[in-house]
Amino acid sequence: VDGQRIRHKGFWFKPEFITASEAIRAHYTPLPSDIILASFPKTGTTWLKALTFSILRHSSTIHDDRDHLDNLNPHEVDTTKISCPRVFNTHLPLSFLPDTVMTSGSKVIYITRHPADTFVSLWHLYNNKFGTEISIQEAFDDFCKGLDRDGVLFLTYEELKGKPEENVKRIADFLGCKTMVEKVVKECSFENLRGASKETGEGVHWSGTKYKMFFRKGVVGDWKNHLTQEMMKELEDIAEMKWRGSGLDLNIFNNNAS
Ligand code: A3P
Repeated sequence: VDGQRIRHKGFWFKPEFITASEAIRAHYTPLPSDIILASFPKTGTTWLKALTFSILRHSSTIHDDRDHLDNLNPHEVDTTKISCPRVFNTHLPLSFLPDTVMTSGSKVIYITRHPADTFVSLWHLYNNKFGTEISIQEAFDDFCKGLDRDGVLFLTYEELKGKPEENVKRIADFLGCKTMVEKVVKECSFENLRGASKETGEGVHWSGTKYKMFFRKGVVGDWKNHLTQEMMKELEDIAEMKWRGSGLDLNIFNNNAS
């Protein structure tokens, strides 16, 4: 335990996340038609949610016109009452979801982003929006304390930003639908989604877009305006250590970036 956080199965969590994950493991039964959007916070979750909804809305094969999508939280929703295909998003690691997610045939899209931009986005959110006064160095130190199978589409924010049409097509193909790619990209542009979002989260847009605070700059490489060389070196060392032997390195975020 460190302050408000508990270390559980190798990850740091607020206690309520652990309760939520236990409820999900106990009550959520994945279906083959389920679409699960998985991400670490600030890696492009809101954008991916909107894109998935837009793809389904404009699909000639799966038409889906629901108003908004739900977080995977059985405390708040009865997951058996949602129409198929059910779309969920979660920030929980795969090992915290029911084991049958791996075997049910449900489709998982995992989005990730360069850790430096993810950190800067998170720091801004906590500092400016949640009123936490924490210096970038302190927040960075916390951040530093703190992947492929069939059925998982692995996406990066940088790929989506660099080649949106190509990657929306990849998502649609993965979901098995033919959609109007250019329309989807336009509908889910940063400006459009930010325009649709509200300060309060009331009156949710069809795209699932709720809060204005989830839209800041929407660019690749803003970390250069915030992180020192020492901070960047520390992140590179952590990425190297965590990903050793996995075939992943920070270069995956350079491909296709705008
Ligand atoms: P920045 O803070 O770097 O601008 P999440 O939805 O996972 O919380 O991620 C939020 C980040 O995604 C923010 O990054 C936000 O501006 C960016 N974002 C949201 N919608 C976007 C879009 N349509 N295009 C590009 N970036 C978007």
